[in-house]
Amino acid sequence: MEIDFNELFNDSYGFILTSEDDFYECFYTKFTDASPIIAEVFRNTDMVNQKLMLRKAVSYMVNFFVTKKAREHFVSIACLHKDKLQIDPILYEIFIDTLLATLAEFYPRYNNAVGVSWRITLAPGVEFMKHISKLD
Ligand code: HEM
Repeated sequence: MEIDFNELFNDSYGFILTSEDDFYECFYTKFTDASPIIAEVFRNTDMVNQKLMLRKAVSYMVNFFVTKKAREHFVSIACLHKDKLQIDPILYEIFIDTLLATLAEFYPRYNNAVGVSWRITLAPGVEFMKHISKLD
């Protein structure tokens, strides 16, 4: 049996884009609840900016999955997380886990394969963010 992870990702991502605002808001509640460190990092960020960050984060990672080219702006975002925001790389795992937990709640056709399709698609972007975070 063939499993088309691109199709699983595209269908579920397309669905989420139709109710983006609620999805991102739910993500942030879960994300900041997941750890006091995360809540602290976002202390000075309003919900509008949080949602913007998630929308951009997912779209940059999807683009990177397709092209494997880190555009200059994506490189500077990764550097911002390392230098100014000082994000511990472990938080990228929580970011992805929270994204999947939110998806499971919002997407009626969610199952494990759909979750795996998101992990596969976002993995290159997460690896890139971690790579930058380890540079001296
Ligand atoms: C997994 C990959 C991630 C990507 C691709 C990503 C991407 C972004 C982007 C595009 C922005 C907006 C920057 C701007 O336009 O000025 C941003 C801001 C931010 N990100 Fe991330 N992010 C990721 C993970 C995380 C994680 C795990 C955390 C913290 C736990 C985090 C914390 C922040 C904070 C605090 C801001 C600044 C928000 C503000 O005050 O405006 N990010 N991120």
